[in-house]
Amino acid sequence: MTTEPALPVSDDADGAEGPETQHFRAPVSFVRRGSRLQGRRQQAWDELSDVFVIDVPRVSSDTSVDPEYVFDAEAAFGRKAPLVVEIGSGLGEAITHAAEQNPEKNYLAVEVYLPGLAQTLQRIGQKNLTNVRVVQANAPEVLSTMLPAGSVDELWVFFPDPWHKTRHHKRRMVKDSFAELAARALVPGGLWRLATDWSDYAVQMRDVLDASPCFENLHPGERGGPDGPLTQVHAQGLEGKEASDDVDTRGGWAPRFEGRTLTSFENKAHQANRLIFDLTYRKA
Ligand SMILES: C[S@@+](CC[C@H](N)C(=O)[O-])C[C@H]1O[C@@H](n2cnc3c(N)ncnc32)[C@H](O)[C@@H]1O
Repeated sequence: MTTEPALPVSDDADGAEGPETQHFRAPVSFVRRGSRLQGRRQQAWDELSDVFVIDVPRVSSDTSVDPEYVFDAEAAFGRKAPLVVEIGSGLGEAITHAAEQNPEKNYLAVEVYLPGLAQTLQRIGQKNLTNVRVVQANAPEVLSTMLPAGSVDELWVFFPDPWHKTRHHKRRMVKDSFAELAARALVPGGLWRLATDWSDYAVQMRDVLDASPCFENLHPGERGGPDGPLTQVHAQGLEGKEASDDVDTRGGWAPRFEGRTLTSFENKAHQANRLIFDLTYRKA
């Protein structure tokens, strides 16, 4: 079995706007990576895709979603149950773990990277899960039209590609326009859980969600001050930053979400001595 981690896309990718932006006019948060399947991934795809892959109509590329198409969760899962959607599910470690722990909930994995989805199918097969479906699609299109408004109980965005360079920040997934789409898809009172191992992106997430009238931080002011993660990044000069005595007085960081298993991706962040920032917001 391959243990290939879900790597962040190259930071050097220039914002070239491919066909996938023609329908949904915004810079996308991903670059195209190989879609070839081999070995067990191909086998998992052949055996399981009929049941577990949501086959959506496209308008341009294979990650687009026809805006006329609306997902029917009850039909797809064969039952009515709370729906958890993970955006950028990578190799499916987090979502399949959660689905195994919570058989009473339905889980939808949204990912553009086909080998990642095939790996997710492999995990679904290994764990004999029936409560996960996967879709190859660009997340903003899923949230804006594919999912019915007010249909998602929890939305997860864990370790989205950081797009470090300033000229690439427009490609970051979590921004004002994305927050509006997230708010549309969530039920009132629904939760949006986020995690990142990059402090600059964590601050952007906090800024975007605190400014949104649609969301309320479930942990306002928490984990600020000298021991908080952001202050520690500054104090210890982590992430290649110069050490400084900047103190994060605002806080607002959630405790680690215990429903999120330690993925190989997060593990690499720990090994590189990067701190993890969790955020949890409730849709008003
Ligand atoms: C850095 S990886 C993290 C994967 C996973 N969440 C984890 O923690 O292991 C980010 C993932 O988001 C996916 N992604 C990026 N932009 C996306 C988009 N617009 N729609 C769906 N998936 C996207 C990438 O293909 C990649 O697999």
